[in-house]
Amino acid sequence: MSKTISGFSKLSKNKKIDWIVSTYFPDSNEAKNIIKQYWSSDEKLQKLHDEFIENTITNYYLPFGVAPNFLINGHPYTIPMAIEESSVVAAASKAAKFWLERGGFKAEVISTKKIGQVHIIYKGSGEALFSFFEELKPKILDETKPLTKNMEKRGGGILSVKLIDKTSELENYYQIHAEFDTRDAMGANFINSCLESFANTLRREAKTFKQFEDETIYPKVVMSILSNYVPECLVRAEVSCNIDLLQEGEISGQEFCERFVQAIKIAEVEPYRAVTHNKGIMNGIDAVVLATGNDFRAIEAGVHAYASKSGQYRSLTHVNVENNIFKFWIEVPLALGTIGGLTSLHPLVKLSLEMLHRPNAEELMEIVAVAGLAQNFAAIKSLVTTGIQKGHMKMHLMNILNQFGATEEEKSILIPKFQDIHVSHSAVSEALNKMRE
Ligand code: MEV
Repeated sequence: MSKTISGFSKLSKNKKIDWIVSTYFPDSNEAKNIIKQYWSSDEKLQKLHDEFIENTITNYYLPFGVAPNFLINGHPYTIPMAIEESSVVAAASKAAKFWLERGGFKAEVISTKKIGQVHIIYKGSGEALFSFFEELKPKILDETKPLTKNMEKRGGGILSVKLIDKTSELENYYQIHAEFDTRDAMGANFINSCLESFANTLRREAKTFKQFEDETIYPKVVMSILSNYVPECLVRAEVSCNIDLLQEGEISGQEFCERFVQAIKIAEVEPYRAVTHNKGIMNGIDAVVLATGNDFRAIEAGVHAYASKSGQYRSLTHVNVENNIFKFWIEVPLALGTIGGLTSLHPLVKLSLEMLHRPNAEELMEIVAVAGLAQNFAAIKSLVTTGIQKGHMKMHLMNILNQFGATEEEKSILIPKFQDIHVSHSAVSEALNKMRE
């Protein structure tokens, strides 16, 4: 049974599937059925999805849910979320409703700068390289004009370009460090194209620069690439209310507030807790990032780096209580786009953006930050009161019932039954077996 193949990408989609099912599945018909079951019956739509990546054999569905009742800067929103975890949308909706009745969320973009670098190895005198860069800089800016023309029309472009000596950190290492404003585009292609243009100009100009005596001295470009660390593409979202309004059943507002503040302070100082705390925030952030066609890996990488900016991994959310006012906020770097990429291609992405009133990139940053804050509020609220499992397992009940192949009738009896009792695999299995006897 061969497990490697050459020329796979050149095979037709059907031939690829044939190879996969005959190589890896004893029951190749069943495997083929599963793969094809997820094809869209709309051929044009399927082709669109096929062409997003290489070697597409089918579609991988995620639930696409919505969390209504978000009030952000005085405007109501229903937030689209693509996520598989049972309790995330329910938690977001609950937090939205909670804060709707307490003035809603406030959000503001602090900055929108993005970074790209050309990484260089150079073995000559630093002074010569800096003189070279002085001559080079107007040329690299001039030669990127065809790339920056449209971006400049939209109010963006290259904000600054400088040469940095990094030889104290790595022998012979310098970099061209550039800042960009990419307006409503996430901007990865724009930034990378500009950087590669910088690198080409540098390679060509190095050959005629007098102080580089020979080829062995020419600065060598190692790579040109944007950075997903965007601490200056930053957004803040906040909620606040009088602590009396935080009363939770038997728990007074004061008591709830104390427990909540302790939970946040722990996540600010304890990395083991901070990672889980921030994971919960990313439940909200990633789901909206995915629904709006943005790159959640870039967002994840940038957010976690930001959480470590002090040298220790810490909570992304913070809390403060002053004069009986509870204030809870998040500050996160989010390089998002509402034009380019999948935004005008994927029908569900277009639908999501329309549902959000066609936001520009800054408005989307605010919405996504709010989703993260809401998710964190919901998680901490459960953690410091009922514990997380009550709500989580309630939402997970449907998955357990489906795993046991429960019929609609069995579900209609068991779902209400489990409203007030603890949900676990064994309890559900026992209840189902009893019913089936
Ligand atoms: C689960 O996906 C997320 C939580 O663990 C987050 C948290 O602990 O804050 C509930």
